[in-house]
Amino acid sequence: MIAPTDPGPDPTDPGPVPTRTGPDPADPGPDSANPQRDLAAARIAPADPQPNAPAVPGRDPAEPLPAAAIPELDPATGARLLEAARRAALRAYCPYSRFPVGAAALTAEGEIFDGCNVENASYGLTICAERAAIFRAVAATASGRPRLRAMLVYTPTPTPTAPCGACRQVIREFGPDCLVVSCCEGPAVMRRSLPQLLPDAFGPEDLEL
Ligand code: THU
Repeated sequence: MIAPTDPGPDPTDPGPVPTRTGPDPADPGPDSANPQRDLAAARIAPADPQPNAPAVPGRDPAEPLPAAAIPELDPATGARLLEAARRAALRAYCPYSRFPVGAAALTAEGEIFDGCNVENASYGLTICAERAAIFRAVAATASGRPRLRAMLVYTPTPTPTAPCGACRQVIREFGPDCLVVSCCEGPAVMRRSLPQLLPDAFGPEDLEL
């Protein structure tokens, strides 16, 4: 007989969850030293849920985007992707995480589809920016099966943000060799191939598609 073991804390219990029902009176307000918080604050103003898109703080709009940091793409395409992802981040609906993300997907045909994260009061229904962009590409593609060449993820943070596991799997569906580039307000750029992000992936081929 196997001795009963103590199951320990419930791994599904997320623990105490902070409630965010409006502006925190202790919140000092927009913090120009933290562009991520600035942008997020603009997205959660309760009296104005669709504010005019603020400029992304921290970067001089006249300053060229670091498209040269994506040598796999021609500079004009890199710049278009970056701009699309940055603009999409301004439209992120992220009142719970206050973590805006913008994504831009480049198809083999050279089309660009952007997306932003869209959260929900039922937290688990949140959709990431990358998947929002891919689903737009699917809806706009006659075959329903776009081929993804590159995905650019932008966050107004000091360091780049990698796509979550769920998004890696969805990128895999349409771009098994997709280039995934993460850009931010800092100088670092993260460039990975999809197989680097998701080795030995399950995919349509496994179902003979
Ligand atoms: N998020 C994305 O949109 N993409 C990622 O790759 C990482 C996470 C979003 C989901 C959620 O709205 C917020 O970031 C915090 O997890």
